[in-house]
Amino acid sequence: MADNFSIGDRYKVRRLEQAAEGRSKIDWAESRMPVMMSLRKEHAAKQSLKGMKIAGCLHVTKETAVLIETLKAAGAEISWSGCNPLSTQDDVAAALAANGISIYAWHGMNTEEFYWCIDKTLEMKPTLTLDDGADLIFSVHNRHPELAKSIIGGTEETTTGVHRLRAMAADGALKYPVIAVNDAETKWDFDNVFGTGQSSLDGILRATSVLVADKSFVVAGYGHCGAGCAMRAAGLGASVIATEIKPTAALKAVLHGHRVMKMDDAAKVGDIFITATGMKDVIVKRHFESMKDGAIVCNTGHYDCEINLVDLEGLAKSKRTIRPNCEEYTLRDGRRIYVLAQGRLVNLAAAEGHPSEVMDMSFANQFLSMVRLANEGRSLGAAVHDIPEEQDQRIAGIKLATLDAGLDVLTAEQIAYLNDYASGT
Ligand SMILES: NC(=O)c1ccc[n+]([C@@H]2O[C@H](COP(=O)([O-])OP(=O)(O)OC[C@H]3O[C@@H](n4cnc5c(N)ncnc54)[C@H](O)[C@@H]3O)[C@@H](O)[C@H]2O)c1
Repeated sequence: MADNFSIGDRYKVRRLEQAAEGRSKIDWAESRMPVMMSLRKEHAAKQSLKGMKIAGCLHVTKETAVLIETLKAAGAEISWSGCNPLSTQDDVAAALAANGISIYAWHGMNTEEFYWCIDKTLEMKPTLTLDDGADLIFSVHNRHPELAKSIIGGTEETTTGVHRLRAMAADGALKYPVIAVNDAETKWDFDNVFGTGQSSLDGILRATSVLVADKSFVVAGYGHCGAGCAMRAAGLGASVIATEIKPTAALKAVLHGHRVMKMDDAAKVGDIFITATGMKDVIVKRHFESMKDGAIVCNTGHYDCEINLVDLEGLAKSKRTIRPNCEEYTLRDGRRIYVLAQGRLVNLAAAEGHPSEVMDMSFANQFLSMVRLANEGRSLGAAVHDIPEEQDQRIAGIKLATLDAGLDVLTAEQIAYLNDYASGT
């Protein structure tokens, strides 16, 4: 492993001296996360997570620090690792280590180090796991199955992780209950859409500084994240092309005013490509072969397999870093293709991830799910469970109150009308 780290009994981070810088960022995030701060106040008083040992594997950002410190304030013992080799904010990790949190995370780690960090967090023998992409749960099941017995439950933050955990549960392989935080309305319809939309464009702009207004912007996958990216790219003046495999999603893209085509055709006309599918090999050799000189390619789906970089390497005669998070591949015929953030999550690697205001709701779901598991975990079956509707409405309600928005309430007569099956028209 590389040298020059700050290493303590319960942490390994890049440089502890960056803690003050990280703390300022966490303070900034706290000032924009009113739902989390109200939950912190309430559950610090109740000590709702006292006795819980939480291992977490989720992007180490300033917003995640607010979640970690809220879990700690509620009485939990925490041990954390990052869920992506390029998404850790080293100063934030340093601030958490300086505050006594057990944390193993640094920007730019390799795969071996990634699993070493997960294993370190599991040394605490957790009672709860908190995942983004399910690598921690998979590590428990595949490499440390003896730990599953003492785990009450876990949560999963993202679409791809929830998909795989549902498949695991369907096969009878899941050993403890997991709550699908991703599928909460206050997560999926806000974080994935508005968070990914804004922060992915932010990442593209920081890595390239190109004008978006004159570009054909190809979004692969018109789901929550893809639709968010399309909305923001169109807002900056781009002409959006969506590629899809699902008819209803493709139809939505058309009715939102975008062109829909096969990637084989989009590859020829796109200027900027972003993948948001959760699927591997969305952009492969034949697509690179037909792209324009100067095409920019990036990914905002969870894993870095959406763009086949091995194919691109095979076509390239040279490669150089032209700007931070922007690599120029020169193909044998002279065309240049630019890959951002090595095909990893462009919003987290080239920018700072989602704005705090959005993560406020996602992490409120994480926090309340941890409290639910601490209370009911053993009675929930070893399956993937949804967030209760009341939790969604409660979180949206607290958020709305901070936005000075008024909300009407149904009258008793209106409720009776809603349930009236006798009167007809
Ligand atoms: N960048 C981030 O911060 C961030 C945030 C949330 C989710 N994610 C990740 O982004 C990915 C998408 O999440 P989502 O919530 O939008 O999921 P989603 O299910 O709403 O949308 C994915 C869409 O991709 C389409 N698709 C699948 N394979 C395709 C292919 N080969 N070509 C074209 N379209 C294809 C699906 O039909 C679907 O409409 C997941 O991997 C998720 O984990 C990233």
